[in-house]
Amino acid sequence: MTLLGKKILITGASSGIGEALALALAQKGASLFLVARRADRLKELAEKTSADILPIDISEAGFLSALEKKWGLHFDVLINNAGLALGRGPYATSEMSDSERMLQVNVEAAFRLTHALLPKMLELGGGDILNLCSVAGHWTYPGGAIYCATKHALWAFTKALREETCGKNLRVMQISPGMVESEFSEVRFKGDKDKAREVYQGMTPLAPSDIARMIVFMLEQPRHVCIDELITMPTDQGSPTTVSRRTT
Ligand SMILES: NC(=O)c1ccc[n+]([C@@H]2O[C@H](COP(=O)([O-])OP(=O)(O)OC[C@H]3O[C@@H](n4cnc5c(N)ncnc54)[C@H](OP(=O)(O)O)[C@@H]3O)[C@@H](O)[C@H]2O)c1
Repeated sequence: MTLLGKKILITGASSGIGEALALALAQKGASLFLVARRADRLKELAEKTSADILPIDISEAGFLSALEKKWGLHFDVLINNAGLALGRGPYATSEMSDSERMLQVNVEAAFRLTHALLPKMLELGGGDILNLCSVAGHWTYPGGAIYCATKHALWAFTKALREETCGKNLRVMQISPGMVESEFSEVRFKGDKDKAREVYQGMTPLAPSDIARMIVFMLEQPRHVCIDELITMPTDQGSPTTVSRRTT
């Protein structure tokens, strides 16, 4: 399927996977609509991609009305990418506000946005919805109770939607990466760059551009091909808790 001129909405496009994907899709001639909170980062990206941008928090009550006012509700492709993990400690001693934030952004905001855009896709004869899940949607690990729960929720949502919309020319897909080096760990450790660096020490993580390349591959398949889910990890990672690290 050609992506030339396709209207593609990406949430969380100001860094990491979303940013890399915007750059890759611009190369394909897609018409990009990018959302994230950091306006400066989005503006820089808009200069490189000719994208239209909306700097906003997707968990805000006014997000959907702002989106509709600016762009309407019809897109050919929705990429639910914005998401975060906060904290890596035991649930018992975790901050409740961190849990709430992950649930708001990773789950509620993605579900609400999909609910707003899906009817138009169905009315106009189809579209693609691709969700950024994670290996944390397949496995669990200590210190990841809520993050894993949010990605399990997104996994289940994607699977159910896929069945529900079968026969409607709608491809509901997800990609589930393992370790990708982006701002993800820095956000998780609340700005502690040393802790974030340690996550990738002695191993070679995936790059955001690796995930972008795979998403482009998924989207470019002919219409009758739906890659329901792609699970990918660095060669140095076997599961969220199995990572091979070089010591020298
Ligand atoms: N990195 C990994 O190892 C990994 C592995 C599996 C899955 N994932 C998933 O991949 C997705 C992208 O993560 P990433 O690795 O690219 O991390 P990242 O570099 O931290 O990017 C996250 C993006 O989400 C945006 N965002 C966060 N909260 C938002 C909000 N409330 N409203 C609007 N935008 C918001 C951020 O932009 P602003 O701060 O400007 O709002 C940023 O653009 C996430 O869903 C993550 O869970 C990541």
